[in-house]
Amino acid sequence: MTYSKIIGTGSYLPAKVLTNYDLEKIVETTHDWIFSRSGIVERHIAAENELTSDLALQASLKAIEASGIDANEIDLIIVATTSPDMSFPSTACILQDKLGIKNGSPAFDIQAVCGGFVYGLNTADLYIRAGQAKTVLVVGAEVLSRMLDWNDRTTCVLFGDGAGAVVVRASDQPGIVAAKLHADGRHRKMLTADPMIAMDGQAVFKFAVKVLSDVVEELLEEQKLAGSDINWLVPHQANIRIIEATAKKLGLKMENVVLTVANHGNTSAASIPLALDTAVRDGRIKAGQNILIEAVGGGFTWGAALIKW
Ligand SMILES: CC(C)(COP(=O)(O)OP(=O)(O)OC[C@H]1O[C@@H](n2cnc3c(N)ncnc32)[C@H](O)[C@@H]1OP(=O)(O)O)[C@@H](O)C(=O)NCCC(=O)NCCS
Repeated sequence: MTYSKIIGTGSYLPAKVLTNYDLEKIVETTHDWIFSRSGIVERHIAAENELTSDLALQASLKAIEASGIDANEIDLIIVATTSPDMSFPSTACILQDKLGIKNGSPAFDIQAVCGGFVYGLNTADLYIRAGQAKTVLVVGAEVLSRMLDWNDRTTCVLFGDGAGAVVVRASDQPGIVAAKLHADGRHRKMLTADPMIAMDGQAVFKFAVKVLSDVVEELLEEQKLAGSDINWLVPHQANIRIIEATAKKLGLKMENVVLTVANHGNTSAASIPLALDTAVRDGRIKAGQNILIEAVGGGFTWGAALIKW
């Protein structure tokens, strides 16, 4: 039986850091308001000439290096993004070229907003299990700062830029154990970008807490696991209060949750691979552990996946 396993991770954050105190000079807000409502302290902002594919490239190079593979072994590239370089070509095709991959393998973007990385990882897993790919690069990359209305204090304080990447490879041992994906377009108006991000924050908050609790329960029940079997919850980093609610539902202590929201803000599809890479590189995530990832985003889309590291 063929499974798929994450064999390397990488991430990249633009150099410029924008703190809550910096934001106090841009809109009518305070560090205390932002921190108490969201858990965010600072976020990174891409330079003017930095594109989503540039962030994706840096994260990918690190993931490829950590995997010990040659870039040309990659036979599928999936980029989850809601802030592509342009309408087309896809950011995945641009990334393929920037990586110097000339093997003609498929490359495409996934648009599921903040749910994008879970969608992308599940897609990679299915390609590998079906025998259609052996080595897949899955990237979450965003430059959300260009989609923010910097006069709207209800949104511009919450988001940031960044990228994270994983290399997923065919294996005879289980790695990505299971995933559950959902969408419900009836709720699409709560969070939109047309072209600037607009959000009904309170409605999104309530919806996020409910569907994330439901989907992690659905996944664990199917796998006959309890919250206590999870070594690390690596959630989408939108808001500390949403993360705390999900951890509580699982009966998990916050010590078992990987948190990057304070320093990254909400980086949409990039947030889970950024957090994964952080915890892999600092040694918290170790071989054999059970890792649970979950995310919800505009659409609405949501999902969760269980990974045996
Ligand atoms: C956005 C969010 C932080 C707002 O927190 P909240 O407690 O719901 O706050 P409210 O929207 O009720 O606003 C409370 C007050 O703060 C004000 N306010 C909004 N943004 C503010 C800011 N940046 N600074 C200071 N005050 C602000 C509001 O105008 C409102 O004032 P009023 O009471 O005088 O009308 C919260 O709703 C949230 O996290 N939602 C989910 C967002 C999310 O995760 N989205 C991504 C999903 S992938």
